[in-house]
Amino acid sequence: MNYKKYTLHPGGLLLLLILCSGQRTPENKNPLTVSAKDEFIESLLSKMTLEEKCGQLNFVVGSILTGPAATADVNVSDYDEAIRKGRITGIFNTNGAKNIRHLQEVAVKESRLGIPLLIGADIIHGYKTITPIPLGEAASWDLAAIEKSARVAAIEASASGINWTFAPMADITHDARWGRIAEGAGEDPFLGGLIAAARVKGFQGNLKDANTIAACIKHFAAYGAPEGGRDYNTVDMSERRLRETYLPPYKAGLQAGAATIMTSFNELDGVPASGNPFLLKEVLRKEWNFEGLVVSDWQSIEEMISHGNVADRKEAGKLAIKTGVDMDMMADIYIKELPELVKNGSVDIVFVDNAVRRTLALKYDLGLFENPYQYGDEKREATEILSKENRAAALDIAKKSIVLLQNSSGILPLNKSVKSIALIGPLAEDKAEQNGCWAFFGEAKDVVSVAEGIKETAGANSKVMIAKGCDFYSSDTSGFREARKIAQQAEVIILAVGESAVMNGEAGSRSDIRLPGVQEQLVKAMMATGKQVIVCVFHGRPLDLSFLEDKSPSVLACWTLGSETGHAVAAVIFGDYNPSGRLPVSFPRSVGQVPVYYYTKQTGRPYSGAYNEPATERVYRSKYRDVENSPLFPFGYGLSYTTFKYETVEVDHSTINSDGIVTASVKVSNTGGRDGEEVVQLYIRDWVGSTTRPVRELKGFQKIMLKAGESKTVSFTINNEMLSFYRQDMTWGAEPGKFTVYIGENSATNNGHDFFLR
Ligand code: NOJ
Repeated sequence: MNYKKYTLHPGGLLLLLILCSGQRTPENKNPLTVSAKDEFIESLLSKMTLEEKCGQLNFVVGSILTGPAATADVNVSDYDEAIRKGRITGIFNTNGAKNIRHLQEVAVKESRLGIPLLIGADIIHGYKTITPIPLGEAASWDLAAIEKSARVAAIEASASGINWTFAPMADITHDARWGRIAEGAGEDPFLGGLIAAARVKGFQGNLKDANTIAACIKHFAAYGAPEGGRDYNTVDMSERRLRETYLPPYKAGLQAGAATIMTSFNELDGVPASGNPFLLKEVLRKEWNFEGLVVSDWQSIEEMISHGNVADRKEAGKLAIKTGVDMDMMADIYIKELPELVKNGSVDIVFVDNAVRRTLALKYDLGLFENPYQYGDEKREATEILSKENRAAALDIAKKSIVLLQNSSGILPLNKSVKSIALIGPLAEDKAEQNGCWAFFGEAKDVVSVAEGIKETAGANSKVMIAKGCDFYSSDTSGFREARKIAQQAEVIILAVGESAVMNGEAGSRSDIRLPGVQEQLVKAMMATGKQVIVCVFHGRPLDLSFLEDKSPSVLACWTLGSETGHAVAAVIFGDYNPSGRLPVSFPRSVGQVPVYYYTKQTGRPYSGAYNEPATERVYRSKYRDVENSPLFPFGYGLSYTTFKYETVEVDHSTINSDGIVTASVKVSNTGGRDGEEVVQLYIRDWVGSTTRPVRELKGFQKIMLKAGESKTVSFTINNEMLSFYRQDMTWGAEPGKFTVYIGENSATNNGHDFFLR
C-alpha cells in the first residue's frame, strides 16, 4: 500500500484550513479547531490495530550498538520483517542513503499502513565531517558558529537518510570526573541554555526541509549530577537547585523548538526519570507545555526494575507509558508488554493513543508522509558529505574552540621560520582519537593530524621530527629516549598529549583526571631539556594540569577537534588565528576539589585569603589544608596573543525600581600588538536573599573583535528578570537590596559596580 492514501482530498483540505484559521496555542486548545495535521493523524490512528500502535512506539538500534547487548525483539538481519509487520517505528544508529531508502520502501510499500520510519542517530558533533566535542564548541562562546556546526551535521546526516538526532545534550555538570561532560556545554546554566538553543536551531532549521533533522534535548533530567561523577549513578538534589541550575538549558532547548526530549538513566529524588511524574507531568507537560515526543534512553524503561522502583517489565511499561514516556528505546517493553496491559485494563488505551499521536506528529512535521524518501539521497551523499564548505565550517569552529591557557614565555605564536620542531606525544600523528567520543560515523582517514597540520603550515625550511614518546595506557617509558633525542636536535618542542576518545563520553568517567599513563612524565622530561615547550592537550574534560603551573611551557586546551584538528592547531600555533576560546567549565587544581564551579555560595565561613597568612589566621574557614579553593583556571578564562584592558564598570542608575533598567558599561581596549577577539562577560551578584545567592552568576556576554590599539565601550542592560531567582517560597522574582554588576575577562573578575533595587 502507498502512503499517498492519506493525502486529503483538496476539498477536505480547504475545509480544514478554514477550521484551523485560529492559532493553536497550549492555552487555546479549542477542541473544535482541528488542523489538517490533526485530521490526518486521527484518520490514521483510527485505522491502527493495538499491535500496530505499540509498534509505532518501539524504537530499535541498527548496526551500531551504543548500549548494553540488545534484548530487542528485532534480529539485526530481520528489520524488513519487523517493518513489514508494523512492529517498529524506526531504527537508529544506521545510515546510508541506499540502505535507508530500502528500509523506507519496505515501510511504505509493504507494511499494512505504509507509515514511514524515523531514522535516528547520535549525531553529537558531526556526521562525517567531525567538529569539536560539544564542550570544545562551547569554549568558542560563538553561538552562530555553533549553530552552523549543527547545521553542517544535519546536512550530512540527512543526505545519508537520518532524520532525527539525539542531541543536543543539555546536561549541566560540576564534575570533571563524569565522562559525559564532553558532550555538554559545561557548568553554566545561562551559557548552556543559549548553546542548547543554538544547536537546536542548527539541527532543525525548518523541520520539514530535506536537509534538516529533528533535535532531541537530553537527558531529562539532571543526568549531569551523578554521585561521585560515576556515570548512571544516583542523583539527588533540592528542587531549588534543580530548577536554578539543571532545568534551564533543557527548557531553553525546548523553547527554541526542539521536537523531542529523552529521559535520563538516573533516578532523581528516589524516582527514576523514565517514571518520574514530577519531571514528566508537572514540569515538562504542565509548566513548560511541551507537546512534542518523549523518548526513553536505551532500555531506561526496563532499568527501572534494576533501580528497584518496579518489580517487572509489565510494571515498568505501565509506569512509563502512564507517566508520559511516548517511545521505548531498546527495552522491547512497549511492543511485548503493552498490548496485554491494555487488553487486561491495566493501561488505558488513551495513553497509548496519545503517545502514537505524538509519534505520528513528529513524522508528519518531518515531512515524511509527504515524501518518505526525502532523507537519504545518494547524489547529495556524494557531493555534500565532507564538502569543502563543511570542512571550512569545521575548521572555523575548531579554531574558535581552542583555549590558550598559558604563554608566559611568549613562544606562541611560533615564528614560521623556526628551523626545527620536535613534535612529540601519542596524539602527534594520531587520527582516530581526534574524532572524539561520539563520532562513530566519522572516519580516521578524514582527519588532518597535528603532524600534517604543522608540516603544512610551518615554513618550507622548517624540519619537523616526530616521536610518539608513549601511549595513553601503558607505563612504558622506553619511547622517551627517542623523544629526548629529537628534542635535543630541535629549536622548539610541541607536545600533543591527552586522553584517548574512550576515556570520556558515555561510561567514560575517571577518578583520576590527570593526563593518563606516563604522559605527565613525558611532558616533564621534555621541559627538563631546557628547550621551549608548547603543550597541546586534547581532552574531553577539564584535566588536572596543576603540574604545569610553573608556567614555563605554553599550553593550549584543544579538547578534541575532529576532522580539521591539524589545521586548527597549526593555525593557532603559528598565529594565523589569534586564539579566542574561553573555558566553559572551571579547571580544578586536583580531583579532590571536585565539584568545582564558579557560582558557588559564599558559606558562613568564607575564606578569601591568599594562603600566605599565618596558619593560625585561617583556621575555621571553609577551605582545604592542602589546596586552594580557587580553580586552576576559572570559568570564562582564556588568553589571547594580544592583551585587553578593562576600565572601571559604570552604571547609569545606582538605584532602580522593579520595572527599572540599569545599563552597565565598560570600555575595553586592545593594548597589544595584534588584532584579537575578547569575550566580555557580565556577572551579577545579589548580596542578600531569602535564599542565599551565588557569589556571582553569568548574565550576558559579547564576543567582540578589537584591532590592535582599538577601544570599544560595551554595554549591557540589566532588567528585573535578570535579578530574579527562586525565593524561599519558591516563587520567581527579585528581592530589593544591593547588587554588584561585574564586567570582565572571566568569572574571577573583580571589576564591579554596585547598584540597588528598591
Ligand atoms: C544512551 C545514551 O545515554 C544516549 O545519549 C544515546 O542517545 C543513546 N544511548 C542512543 O545511542
